[in-house]
Amino acid sequence: MRVLLFLVILLLPLPLFAVTPQPVGAKQGMVVSEQQLASQAGLAVLKAGGNAIDAAVAVGYALAVVNPCCGNIGGGGFMTIHFADGKNIFLNFREKASSKASPNMFLDAKGNVIPQKSMEGYLAVGVPGTVLGLDTALKKYGTMNRKQVMQAAIDLADNGYVLTPYAVNLINNNLSPYFKTQSNIAAIFSKNNKPYQAGDILKQKELGKTLQEISKKGPKIFYQGNIAKEIVNASKKNGGILSLKDFADYTVEERKPIECNYQGYAIISSPPPSSGGVTLCEITNILEKYSLGKSHFHSAHDVHFIVEAMRYAFADRNNHLGDPNFVNNPVDKLISKKYAKTIQDKILENHAATDMTPEVKITHESLNTTHYSVVDKKGNAVSVTYTLNSFFGAKVIAGNTGFFLNNEMDDFTSKPGTANQFGLVQDAANSIQPGKRPLSSMTPTIILKNKKIFMVLGSPGGPRIITATLETLLNVIDYKMNIQQAVNAPRFHHQWLPDKIDYEPNAFSIDTIKQLGKMGYQLKLQKTWGAVEAILRDPVDGRLYGANDNRRPDGEAVGH
Ligand code: DON
Repeated sequence: MRVLLFLVILLLPLPLFAVTPQPVGAKQGMVVSEQQLASQAGLAVLKAGGNAIDAAVAVGYALAVVNPCCGNIGGGGFMTIHFADGKNIFLNFREKASSKASPNMFLDAKGNVIPQKSMEGYLAVGVPGTVLGLDTALKKYGTMNRKQVMQAAIDLADNGYVLTPYAVNLINNNLSPYFKTQSNIAAIFSKNNKPYQAGDILKQKELGKTLQEISKKGPKIFYQGNIAKEIVNASKKNGGILSLKDFADYTVEERKPIECNYQGYAIISSPPPSSGGVTLCEITNILEKYSLGKSHFHSAHDVHFIVEAMRYAFADRNNHLGDPNFVNNPVDKLISKKYAKTIQDKILENHAATDMTPEVKITHESLNTTHYSVVDKKGNAVSVTYTLNSFFGAKVIAGNTGFFLNNEMDDFTSKPGTANQFGLVQDAANSIQPGKRPLSSMTPTIILKNKKIFMVLGSPGGPRIITATLETLLNVIDYKMNIQQAVNAPRFHHQWLPDKIDYEPNAFSIDTIKQLGKMGYQLKLQKTWGAVEAILRDPVDGRLYGANDNRRPDGEAVGH
C-alpha cells in the first residue's frame, strides 16, 4: 500500500516552479539588469536621490562596460518611460543607416544576399544612437549631471571587474576567432592572445578614456568630435561607408508609445521603428477572446491560441512595419480590437493555420541584446532595451575607442522574402534607405493597473523578445505566477515564418507535445533564450518585486 502511495505521489505532475526562489522585494526603488555590477550602479544613483531616469542612464553606461557583448555605446535602443504624473513617453535612439546606404548593398551581381556582409565589418554598422539617447533622457528628464551618472561606469572600466565563468565563456566563444586578425580586440579581450579565465580582472582603459571624454564634453565629442573621426577613419579604411556627416546628422526622437488594454491592464510599449509594441498589442487583443489560464499552464488549448495569435501578428509585422519617417505604418488598424476580431474569426478551433506557410531557410540564429528595468520611489518607471544586435555587434572596434560597433544593418530587409539572421522574412517597408532606421523587435514595456505601475519588463532575443515579453505578462496576469516564476518559466515562440513552434526545455508536457502534433504543428526543441529583467509593483500595498532571469547568472535585482 505504502509503495503504491509513494509511486502515485512520484508520478503526480509536479508544479513546474516549485523551486523558483522568491523575487527580491523592496519598498522604494528597484533596478534589475543582467549584470549585478550595473544593477548596483543604478541602485547607488537611486539611493543618492536620483530618479529612475538618472539610474537608467547610469545602468546604460555601466552595462556598456560590464556586459560588453550587449550593453553598449556603439549601438542603439529604446527607452519607455512612465512618469509618476501619469505621462508616458518613448525615446527612439535606434541606429540610422549611412547616407551612402542603398537597398541592394548586401546583394551580389545576381541579386543574391551575400552571407555575412550585413553581419560583420563596417558595412554592417549603423550610426550609433546610445550616447545621444542616454544624454537626451538625462538632460530632459533626469535630475543629476553627466559625471554623477557616468562615474561608476568609468571606474569599472579603469579599475576593472572580476570576470565570472559566464562572462569568460561569452567573450572567448565569440571573440577568440578575431584575436589574430584584430589586434585592438585582442589587446583588450585576451591576455597576450590567450583567453581570459574566470577570476581574471578585465580592465578597459580605452573605453574608460572614451567614457571620460563623453562625461566631460557630452555627446558632441561622439557625434562631431574625436570619436566620430576615429570611427569614420576606421570605417573608410575597412570598406565601410560611414561619414562624418552621418554622425553630425544623427538624431534622437521622442514619440508617443503604443498603448493598448489587456484584461483591464494598460500596456505601454515601443512604437515603430520598433515592431514590439504593435505586435504585442495585436497578439494580446486577439488573445482576449480565449480565457487563457482556465486550462493549465501551457496546455495544448492555450498554446494553440497563443501561437495562432503570434503567427498572424508576426505576418503583419514582417509585411507592414518599418521606420515611420519613411513608410506608413498601419498602427491604428493593427492594434484595434476590430482588427483582432477579424483574426479571431480566421483562427481554427482545433488546428494550426494551413494557408500562410511558404518555405523558409534560416541562416543562423544568435541571441543577445540586453534589457533593464528601473522604478524609483516617486513612482517613475523606465524600461530600456538596447543592443549591438549580434553578440559584440559587427565584431569591430574603431582604433582606440575601446567599444564594439553594432551590426544593426542586418535588421533591414536585405532582400524581400529572404530570411535575416533571426529567420525573419520581411518586406519592402523595411528596405535599406539612407538615414532610415531598421525595424526592431525590442519591446521595452511598462504595464499599468489603475494608472499605477504594475510591471516593467522587456528582453533580448531578436523576434523572441516580443514573445518572451508577452509570455511573462500572460504568466502574471492569466497564470497568476509571481514575477520570478513568470520570468523563469520556460518559453515558446512562433513568428509566422518559419512555420514551427520553437520551445525551451521543459516548456511542454509530453501530452501537450502530442496534442499540438495532432493539431498540425511542427515543434522544435531549442536551447533557452531571452533574459527578461522585470519589476512588479504589488497593486495592494505598493511593494516592489524584482526578478532577474535565471537564464542570466550574472544578473541581479536590487532594491532599497
Ligand atoms: O532590434 C532588434 O530587434 C534586434 N537587433 C535585437 C537583437 C537581439 O535581441 C539579439 N538577440 N538576442
